[in-house]
Amino acid sequence: MKDDIATLSMASNVETMKRKGNSISIDDGRKKPRIIVQQRKSLPIATVEKELVEKVQNNQTLIIVGETGSGKTTQLPQYLFDAGFCRDGKVIGITQPRRVAAVTIAKRVAEECDVQLGQRVGYSIRFDDMTSGSTRIKYMTDGLLLREALLDPFLSKYSVIIVDEAHERTIHTDVLLGLLKKVQKVRSEYQKVGTVKTNDGPLSGKENGAQSASFLKLCQGVKFPPLKLIIMSASLDPRMFSEYFGDASYVYIRGRQFPVNIYYTQHAESDYVDAAIITIFQIHLEEGPGDILVFLTGQEEIEAVEGLIQERIRQLPAGNQKLVAVPIYSSLPSDQQMKVFMPVPDGFRKVILATNIAETSVTIPGIMYVIDPGLVKARTYNQQTGVESLVVVPTSKTQAVQRSGRAGREGPGKCFRIYPENEFAKLADSTVPEIKRCNLSNVVLQLKALGVDDIVGFDFMEKPSRISIKKSLEELLLLGALTDDYKLSDPIGHQMATLPLDPMYGKALIVASQFNCLEEMLITVAMLSVESIFYRPREKLEESRIAMKHFSSPEGDHITLINVYRSSDEFLEKIRIGSSKNKILKNLRKWCEENFINSRSLRHARDIHSQIRRHVEQMGLCIASCGDDMLSFRRCLAASFFLNAALRQPEGTYRALANGQVVQIHPFSVLFQAKPVCIIFNELVRTNNNYIRNVTRIDPLWLPELAPQYYANKVEISGT
Ligand code: CDP
Ligand code: MG
Repeated sequence: MKDDIATLSMASNVETMKRKGNSISIDDGRKKPRIIVQQRKSLPIATVEKELVEKVQNNQTLIIVGETGSGKTTQLPQYLFDAGFCRDGKVIGITQPRRVAAVTIAKRVAEECDVQLGQRVGYSIRFDDMTSGSTRIKYMTDGLLLREALLDPFLSKYSVIIVDEAHERTIHTDVLLGLLKKVQKVRSEYQKVGTVKTNDGPLSGKENGAQSASFLKLCQGVKFPPLKLIIMSASLDPRMFSEYFGDASYVYIRGRQFPVNIYYTQHAESDYVDAAIITIFQIHLEEGPGDILVFLTGQEEIEAVEGLIQERIRQLPAGNQKLVAVPIYSSLPSDQQMKVFMPVPDGFRKVILATNIAETSVTIPGIMYVIDPGLVKARTYNQQTGVESLVVVPTSKTQAVQRSGRAGREGPGKCFRIYPENEFAKLADSTVPEIKRCNLSNVVLQLKALGVDDIVGFDFMEKPSRISIKKSLEELLLLGALTDDYKLSDPIGHQMATLPLDPMYGKALIVASQFNCLEEMLITVAMLSVESIFYRPREKLEESRIAMKHFSSPEGDHITLINVYRSSDEFLEKIRIGSSKNKILKNLRKWCEENFINSRSLRHARDIHSQIRRHVEQMGLCIASCGDDMLSFRRCLAASFFLNAALRQPEGTYRALANGQVVQIHPFSVLFQAKPVCIIFNELVRTNNNYIRNVTRIDPLWLPELAPQYYANKVEISGT
């Protein structure tokens, strides 16, 4: 509804701030630090608190567009809490596309509310739940809320759900929007008549059917307030969202944006990492105070740059060494994530090495300089082959503008784009929604588990292509998650949907319980869930290769990863007795350093391991170890990852059996030299070549034996 646009602008808060005392009282009588109160009051959103709350009260669905850093994510939930939206123990849920954002923002808001994290304010992300019965403001990932819907299809504990960062259009956000639209409809119906006309749940698509006993049971004792829905974003065009939600109202919140000078390189840079590092030091040595934010593509690159910066700092004259590099990316252990927000000692400059997480989801104060190589790691999907891969691609114009905007929040800033000016014009205007460029198996499985049988007919904001839906259905069928008539199978499909893992990994755990090697598979899946276990700094490649030999198995990378994990187990066992947690961590870090293992990744993998172990215990799967019988384990890998099998070709490359694609073993794989006849792999990375990573040797004859549903008729295999 265009008429409904309210342009809410900000006024100066300086006066209000001056008049405040040293600290003020809050509801529980404790004192809040003055600085936080002042910061909150000075945010652009603070001037429009009343209007915003009224808008939420008067609209079922509201779309809020506001500049990054204006205070949407941290403040709005608090305003709604204060306005009574959590009466009767109801919860305000805020979804984020990224784990780091959910965690760091929840920590910040808990601090602002002066409560312990996990009490009134908490977060919940996959493998890490920091909420309790008293949590009323709950930050979570969009994927997690989807998962919650499996257990509570009406999302009955929520009075408000805020879908934040909607412009990112992650696949989970898109599916969530469809789900929330339905849930909202069913809940308003309930409000009107005290009961709902539906059979099984909000998504069964049988809204005119009779009330089933199971549904009435579900509703018993549950009071459904109508569900308020807020869609929030930095830079989206609200019209499309408004239309999708039946002409929902939208409001703009003006932020503060100082001018940012944009600089380009003269020519295209062959090594943008090197160019970025040179730029960091130029800024550090020649420009005035202010922190630097560098956008990089992922953990590996960030760690490489971190190492190089440290090395160059040491080469600077003593007086110039006051530079601190701080990384932020999604799998960074949560105790290290808050470091980007912490002030550095006086006179020091902070350089933040971030993925596109710092584009809009997380606002870090103090930034005056942005370095943007113009790249982002994105999931892409080949509709014909059904193969998904991670590729580094140019950002869109919108992303580039958001990135440069980070330099102008507190004063005029500078943005250095590491590409020539004419390249900017060639960038796409905005990013293609993820649902159009990734493998849908995961969400199709989730939707099936939510009772959506007709995936093509589901009310998506933007429909994924029929062909990619078909591919996912086929894949799920082959994995045994669906029956021949495409219904969720029992128990495998249900078990796979319950596990917070990609369908193929979920299936691997189930298969492993039958092969008596679930212990090994749990480790494997945990280790495969983190970005890179081995640390390979450019300048010490040979040393890291030698260190890796210590763990490597001639059978492949999966067993190599198990060896690393088990060695870390043995090491921890030795040092654990009588040591404090800090000391254990310190020793583990040292052990990792000596062995060229990425300690952050290893800790993350160990964490994931204990979480998924708990899941499979609850599911009652048989957790056994195959001991030294690695043949069994490799057979189990073949039975699980048969869709990712490849055969060696005469010239030494491989051909993926599922789609004929030519791939190569990544040079970091332990099988890079050995090049066995037949392999399975877990990851396809496209750079100049199609590289496969995490590779294990298998016998090609196992494929028709262990996956007859797929290989029985494949001539090349059965004939080998
Ligand atoms: O959501 P939006 O981009 O509008 O802003 P926000 O995330 O609510 O951030 C509001 C303010 O809180 C910014 O000035 C951030 O720098 C600050 N903030 C912080 O200091 N520490 C955090 N962990 C999160 C936010
Ligand atoms: Mg935000």
